[in-house]
Amino acid sequence: ADSRRESLFVISTWAAKFFSETMWETQAGQTIGLGYFKERGFRDDIIKKFELGYSPDEWGVLGEKAIREGFKEEFLEETGLSIRSDKGGLYDRFRGRVMFPIHNFTGRIIGFGGRTLKTDKNVPKYVNSPESEIYHKSNVLYGLFFAKKAIRDLDNCYLVEGYADVLSVQQAGIENVVASSGTSLTIEQIRLISRFTKNITILFDGDAAGIKASLRGLDMILEEGLNVKVVLFPEGNDPDSYVQKLGSAAFKTFLEKNQKDFILYKTSILLKDAGNDPIKKAGIIHDVVDSIAKIPDGIKASVFIRECSSLMQIEERVLIAELNKLRLNKN
Ligand code: UTP
Ligand code: MN
Ligand code: MN
Ligand code: MN
Ligand code: MN
Repeated sequence: ADSRRESLFVISTWAAKFFSETMWETQAGQTIGLGYFKERGFRDDIIKKFELGYSPDEWGVLGEKAIREGFKEEFLEETGLSIRSDKGGLYDRFRGRVMFPIHNFTGRIIGFGGRTLKTDKNVPKYVNSPESEIYHKSNVLYGLFFAKKAIRDLDNCYLVEGYADVLSVQQAGIENVVASSGTSLTIEQIRLISRFTKNITILFDGDAAGIKASLRGLDMILEEGLNVKVVLFPEGNDPDSYVQKLGSAAFKTFLEKNQKDFILYKTSILLKDAGNDPIKKAGIIHDVVDSIAKIPDGIKASVFIRECSSLMQIEERVLIAELNKLRLNKN
């Protein structure tokens, strides 16, 4: 079984090299693939560090080359680099896309994301490798291999949504950054981060989906005993577009100024939403205390109770009573 896994690592590494060579050494790769990355403002050093590439806009170039070089069809299929057609032949999954290899945290390539260059809404923006014996999406954070040392040294981890966000933020000299890559954050991903730091700062896209995501799922992080801050970006921006717009220094200042503690942020958003409606306001109390109840550290929880009570203008003892009720029910 181990030699089978090893074969999957080897073919994935081989494919990354193939995509990279296609980009740097073919005419189409240079003009279309590399041209695209340059247009987005990515420097050569970042493109090389993350081993970005380009997949030929044809049906079987990768698969045929792999077979010629002695790779088994079985491994092309298991990694999802090739897909079996109804007629029985294999065709390449990634065609005419810029390629982002996904590394596990020891630096081995385990899968790919491929971005289309088309603006056609009917074409999926990203095509990703399927789950395989070496690629379990829920256990992977994009960029962790390149970020882990900085995460430990700086004792903080920035979490972003996408591949491009990781690249641009890294390029700005902020190296403690990883992406969940579109899926909502999993408990495994949180535990992976908590091996390196207990402090997460989440950088969400400034769109409706980003704001919603900022309220959902984060209680899970509190439950793991981590401290959570959030930064929201101006509408229509994500960390990538914003850092490319502002430049490194102004972006760092923006992060410093706009990071908010998650619980206080959640409280203020919900409050704004409720206005003067007393029933809605009562609902918020439950919601907020629910989050606070997830914090394993009692001292930390009581600090939040105090701050939220002043934000919501509700007596501390009411919140404490609610908190104790929740704690009792849990045990
Ligand atoms: P976004 O839609 O925010 O894309 O999805 P992005 O990263 O900003 O992409 P650019 O800047 O237009 O290139 C965030 C992440 O969700 C995953 C990808 O990992 C993406 O980086 N995603 C998104 C998919 O897997 N498939 C999709 O079709 C879209
Ligand atoms: Mn799995
Ligand atoms: Mn988004
Ligand atoms: Mn985005
Ligand atoms: Mn983007």
